[in-house]
Amino acid sequence: MQESFEIVVADDPFTLFSVWFAEATTLEPADPNAMVLATTGSDGQPTARAMLMKSYDRDGFVFYTNQESRKSHQLRANDKVGLCFYWKSLYRQVHIEGTVSPVSPAESDEYFASRPRQSQIGAWASQQSRPLSSRKELEDRIQSLTAQYEGKVIPRPPHWGGYRVTPHRIEFWRGHEFRLHDRVVYARATPQEKWTTQRIYP
Ligand SMILES: Cc1cc2nc3c(=O)[nH]c(=O)nc-3n(C[C@H](O)[C@H](O)[C@H](O)COP(=O)(O)O)c2cc1C
Repeated sequence: MQESFEIVVADDPFTLFSVWFAEATTLEPADPNAMVLATTGSDGQPTARAMLMKSYDRDGFVFYTNQESRKSHQLRANDKVGLCFYWKSLYRQVHIEGTVSPVSPAESDEYFASRPRQSQIGAWASQQSRPLSSRKELEDRIQSLTAQYEGKVIPRPPHWGGYRVTPHRIEFWRGHEFRLHDRVVYARATPQEKWTTQRIYP
């Protein structure tokens, strides 16, 4: 195998993640920031759904959602989560394991204020994961909220905000022919510790 096909191990996983994410941003045609978020509630049943990662830095990976949704109830019961980015065009994935905590109200406010107005209305209109009698009910809620906020700044709903995933394990996976993939795992027991690295079999 040629040297250039190997994952080059950086000092910390965020350096490597930022290189891969920049490549995905250029080469992945749709939603390079899409990731699968896996959660488990108190019953131990895992559930997974796609989410958009809205920011990341050395403190972790941030996503926004309705904090009364099914996932948010699970997160309150169990703060351990998995994330998986799969960049099909690059034949690469990054698996992340960590714990979530809510981002500060100020951070959620700032991100909410940057969203398009229709998305802000949508955040008020949607009682995410709750029963909806008809599509019309949602459309009516949108219409009445649009009228209510006409000409006004739309505040962030109290039930809507961000979560940050603080990772303790990040695996970089690069696909190769004949299943001879390249895998490198970064791990640390606590956020204060240095990352260790380990190459593992495909
Ligand atoms: C590509 C993609 C990105 C998504 N991004 C988000 C997101 O950032 N936040 C969100 O609440 N839901 C997002 N969704 C919808 C979720 O997959 C999910 O349906 C919703 O959050 C409700 O999940 P829950 O009932 O498990 O709480 C996205 C769906 C797709 C397909």
